[in-house]
Amino acid sequence: MSKIAYAALSAADVNREFDAVSKLYEGLKAKNLKLDMSRGKPSKAQLDMTSDMLTTLSDPAQCLSDGLDVRNYGELAGIPAAKKLFAEILGCRPEECYVGGNASLTLMYDLISKAFTHGLKNSDTPWCKLDKVKFLCPAPGYDRHFRITESFGCELITVPMTAEGPDMDFVEEQVKDPAVKGIWCVPKYSNPDGIIYSAETIRRFAELKPAAKDFALMWDNAYCVHEFTGDYVPFPDIISLCREAGNPDMVYEFASTSKITFPGAGISVMAASEENIAYLLKLIGVQSISCDKVNQLRHVLYLKDMEGTLALMKKHAAIMGPKFLCVLDMLDAEIAPLGIAEWQRPTGGYFVSVNTAKGLAKRTLELCREAGVVMTSAGATFPYGVDPEDRNIRIAPSLPPVEELKAAMEVFCVSLRLAALEQMLAK
Ligand SMILES: Cc1ncc(COP(=O)(O)O)c(C=O)c1O
Repeated sequence: MSKIAYAALSAADVNREFDAVSKLYEGLKAKNLKLDMSRGKPSKAQLDMTSDMLTTLSDPAQCLSDGLDVRNYGELAGIPAAKKLFAEILGCRPEECYVGGNASLTLMYDLISKAFTHGLKNSDTPWCKLDKVKFLCPAPGYDRHFRITESFGCELITVPMTAEGPDMDFVEEQVKDPAVKGIWCVPKYSNPDGIIYSAETIRRFAELKPAAKDFALMWDNAYCVHEFTGDYVPFPDIISLCREAGNPDMVYEFASTSKITFPGAGISVMAASEENIAYLLKLIGVQSISCDKVNQLRHVLYLKDMEGTLALMKKHAAIMGPKFLCVLDMLDAEIAPLGIAEWQRPTGGYFVSVNTAKGLAKRTLELCREAGVVMTSAGATFPYGVDPEDRNIRIAPSLPPVEELKAAMEVFCVSLRLAALEQMLAK
């Protein structure tokens, strides 16, 4: 089979290559694989590794935290020790933290929902009363972000991504429109590109001058401590930067322990100016009397502090690192010489983002599915699920063990080659 760029093949070579790759594909299909790489789920090995947390809290006498009985009602914003833990991880102040349940996504949804029903702290009117609400969506990005704002009827505007984060010239132009009410950001190890926003991008975000005075910078720092290779990469605190730039109420930062302890039983945080938190607590106080403080305390006892958290993340890295290496090695060996795709080389986060030549993503994933390998659907990383160039594929290597991952990547590489050859023959 070819190890040279497909574009350099003669017509006869393309035919020969097509026959060889088709045979290979049929052979893989006959294996009847059943592999799911559609979402960034931690593996069983990771869940088992942290399962000693389940027994950290076993005695009622342990249920006091800063003099507070965590089993009872109260402390709507979360126990002080959990706020302190998240503040240390994010670099902000404990008073700027609201600690929630297992899903930061719920906090994001809830914030947008409150913006529509009640308005944010600086809103003149709830967003539901406006003719049009537009939301900026850097793409490729996280499908669930886009779906939140789509579900409230926002018009989604695609923002191109650069190697330094969202295209800030474009963002600065767009926010001149008062109907543009916010932007989704994953600033560290972005989903799916694994990009870390540059210092300049972060500064420009903090200094943004949106026409909408209730503009929401949705800063989803989901992968803030999630290096799978190398040491922890320090990251600026966006809450202080926005405050210093005269934009204290513009930003809402989110994170969770979903990929530190358990996705199904972790704790989450929303960090924002103290004034924003005070405003939101009044609204949250109507829907809830208290949060799951027992789980918050369990996390505090287990993780302890930033040092304890980073030590645990090193153990996750020992499991995740080889999986990413496997994906990148396979792409380098099987695809790089052919010139039919390019990809990012992240050092943290949960994804490898592959951009195929134009028009190959959908067909590649269809071939994968037919051969028993399910990946995130093509288009999912773009607003409305439509990738205008049909190029982006999000690979999520975390769930399967390395052996299965290797088998899945073999299917992926052969499917991509076949899709490229089909396209060449059709031309
Ligand atoms: C960028 C991003 N934010 C949020 C989440 C979900 O977080 P949580 O489990 O805290 O709801 C994910 C999960 O993949 C993610 O990639």
